[in-house]
Amino acid sequence: MLIAYGLSVLHVAYGVLQSERSAVYAVLLLAAAVTVYGLHIAAGWREAKADRVKTDLVEEGFVSVCRVGDLTDGAGRTAWLGSRRVALWRHEGKIYATSNVCRHQGGPLGEGEIIDGCITCPWHGWQYRPADGQSPPPFDERVATYRTRVVDGDVWVAAEADPAGTSQHGAAVEGEVRDG
Ligand code: FES
Repeated sequence: MLIAYGLSVLHVAYGVLQSERSAVYAVLLLAAAVTVYGLHIAAGWREAKADRVKTDLVEEGFVSVCRVGDLTDGAGRTAWLGSRRVALWRHEGKIYATSNVCRHQGGPLGEGEIIDGCITCPWHGWQYRPADGQSPPPFDERVATYRTRVVDGDVWVAAEADPAGTSQHGAAVEGEVRDG
């Protein structure tokens, strides 16, 4: 399709260039062609890279759970991961995932919010840090955390939880392969 597009542009331009003797038009045409083809090639490369990364993630057991835009800073959200829910968090430019089950009485953490930098259970206010699932000192409760990735605007979460209290880097909101 790109070739057909180029040929049709060339056809139109050829008519103009026949009557115009100035080299400026030819240079402008060449510059425009290089720009258009360059943009197409860059977009194709980006999509191919995103597809490769997504294929690798599936093989590593990650699951795509939502778009980055579905998450709000400081507010929890839940997503199904197989037969259980995980809590998703957007905090300080990173995406984190934790167990959705509070260690106190099983409250739904994903329906809570982040207060003073900690996930705060909506039932009785127990808190956990988003990056490692640990309660802030002096408390020592812990919930499971999950590895996260952001690719092409999609949030991916590892299907298997890491042990409670495992520290995670979190996935940068802008992701590894950006939206075009
Ligand atoms: S169930 Fe979470 S604080 Fe009580």
